[in-house]
Amino acid sequence: MTDALPPRPRKRVRAIGVVIVGLLALVSIGVLVARLTQHEPDATPDAAPQAAPALARVADVGEDATDPARWATRWPLQYDGYQRTAIKTATTYGGHGGSEAMPEDKLARDPWLKRMFLGYAFSIDYRDRRGHAYMLADQEATGRLSVPQSGACLHCHASVMPLYRTLGNGDVFAGLDATWAMTYQDASKRLHDAGHAHPIGCIDCHAPASMALRVTRPGFLRGIAALAASNAPVPAFSSIAAWRQAGRPTSYDPNRDATHGEMRSFVCGQCHVEYYCSTRMPLTYPWGQGLSVDAIEAYWDQTTLAGGAQFADFQHAETGAAVLKAQHPEFELWSQGLHARIGVACADCHMPSVPAGATQVTDHWIRSPLLDVTRACLSCHRVTEPELLARVATIQDRTHDQLQRGGAALVDLIDTVVAARASGATTAQLAPALALQRKAQWRLDFIAAENSMGFHAPREAARVLGEAIDHARQGELAARALVPAGAAVPTARPTTSTTPR
Ligand code: HEC
Ligand code: HEC
Ligand code: HEC
Ligand code: HEC
Ligand code: HEC
Repeated sequence: MTDALPPRPRKRVRAIGVVIVGLLALVSIGVLVARLTQHEPDATPDAAPQAAPALARVADVGEDATDPARWATRWPLQYDGYQRTAIKTATTYGGHGGSEAMPEDKLARDPWLKRMFLGYAFSIDYRDRRGHAYMLADQEATGRLSVPQSGACLHCHASVMPLYRTLGNGDVFAGLDATWAMTYQDASKRLHDAGHAHPIGCIDCHAPASMALRVTRPGFLRGIAALAASNAPVPAFSSIAAWRQAGRPTSYDPNRDATHGEMRSFVCGQCHVEYYCSTRMPLTYPWGQGLSVDAIEAYWDQTTLAGGAQFADFQHAETGAAVLKAQHPEFELWSQGLHARIGVACADCHMPSVPAGATQVTDHWIRSPLLDVTRACLSCHRVTEPELLARVATIQDRTHDQLQRGGAALVDLIDTVVAARASGATTAQLAPALALQRKAQWRLDFIAAENSMGFHAPREAARVLGEAIDHARQGELAARALVPAGAAVPTARPTTSTTPR
């Protein structure tokens, strides 16, 4: 059952979606090229992208303007950048492999991932990410929907705020809380029926009246307020330190309290984060003790599920260990690194300024910065492009190598627990090994699920992987002690470093 790939009809739906999105992208790129080549920047009011305020009335975008196309008249350059997120990109570790109809399956590339997730939906279908234009279609097509999923999945994959306002009678927090117990299909139908079935839109990062940056997602607003309310160190966020200094007046609200520089990361932190989303409890951003891998682990360890059991994402199918699943913690890993500490935001690297006629705009083609190092990095780093790319490659190759070693160590741990069980070891006897499996998997997955292959905080990634390998090998030793002399013991496999793609 767990080997099942998404059935064919899904592929066809996805393929049609891809063709449509692809055509839209081509049309809009054509429009962009025509605009850039045929018009002087200020030739006519109609062609000037950031022109007279009167045009704002023409565009007429309000809080329900979830369709980015409605913003195109007024902000054509940003809209065209946004449309380009439908274009396939690939670097050594970024973007996606596979065809445009179907990004590459991570489980086939790194079989230890499938072993790690046995017993959970991620062992069914887990693929490379791609551009924002696909976020809703890819969620609707994933094989993981073959098991029941929560309506809260929409929080980060659709322009969902009008639905939250409807469900919560104007209160978006109540609106979110109305969705977690719903089935994905129910929430999705409501989204489609209300006409808001779009991926992330302009409205999700900008206030329509002023175009100021804002965060909209209630999950993030709750999570960052809990982080502020804790005593965890926040070297990357001076506004939280200032709010604590001021005696923690009312609940921390990034839309009121954050600096402009912080907002250039917070808009991304709405989604590129570790979270828990199921019909078992409300959508949770686990930041109440801090953003480090250890602080989040402590948060989950101290969380109990209905019935009183310690929180776990799933029970491992082969060993029975109650384990955690990490989700794309870009925001958290970045926050532990040097760039965050010195104030370099997500948007600095992923949305650099690009020339547009006589002026500059923010590049809304959000993608790997390695595809535009000149603008994304060399504004600060006075080295050549090949030199900087080589530095990144060193960081990523080392992270990838350590990750593969961790994967091999974890598989050895699982094999040894299985052998110990086969020779009669009880769950109580295996408890120390299973606890070590939980710790090892959490750390390994944290770096594997994070999408920069260690770049966002290289030293932290190396530390976390070192701990993962240590926990896995200690767990293996603990289980090996329970295998009687003479019984079949799996031999530790040699560590092979696969090619990235
Ligand atoms: C100092 C520059 C820098 C900053 C700041 C930064 N990133 Fe990145 N990011 C990178 C690089 C470099 C990569 C690796 C790209 C690759 O392998 O092609 C990357 C990779 C990614 C990827 C995967 C990209 C892909 O093409 O698959 C995502 C998603 C991402 N970053 C999100 C974020 C978020 C969210 C933040 C802020 C919390 C952030 N990044 C901050 C430079 C940066
Ligand atoms: C509403 C949630 C949401 C927000 C906000 C968001 N992202 Fe994403 N992002 C996603 C999802 C979902 C995907 C994966 C889409 C897919 O695979 O279909 C993604 C994919 C990406 C990728 C991979 C692109 C590629 O071509 O492979 C990058 C890079 C990225 N996001 C960076 C950012 C940055 C930087 C920000 C902030 C400026 C940001 N995102 C804000 C949800 C979000
Ligand atoms: C907190 C925000 C958030 C929530 C909630 C969320 N996602 Fe995502 N999802 C993302 C981001 C960001 C990415 C892109 C980064 C990546 O793929 O690692 C993504 C990628 C994906 C992808 C493409 C890559 C893959 O994993 O195969 C699928 C499919 C997906 N999500 C399905 C779901 C489902 C199903 C749920 C509900 C259980 C869900 N998402 C809930 C933020 C979220
Ligand atoms: C994931 C968040 C995100 C989304 C979605 C988004 N933007 Fe932006 N946008 C930004 C960021 C970050 C900036 C830089 C703003 C700053 O630093 O003040 C920006 C800047 C802008 C600006 C100011 C001029 C400039 O280029 O710097 C305009 C206008 C704009 N965006 C329009 C749009 C439109 C239109 C859409 C939808 C097609 C859109 N944005 C979608 C994050 C986003
Ligand atoms: C806004 C300025 C700024 C931008 C943009 C920026 N950096 Fe940096 N980066 C710095 C500073 C400052 C340092 C610390 C001093 C140093 O090592 O040069 C740093 C450090 C680094 C380091 C050493 C990291 C470590 O943790 O030891 C690498 C590698 C790096 N940057 C690569 C990049 C790449 C690649 C990009 C583009 C994707 C980028 N930087 C974008 C300012 C920036």
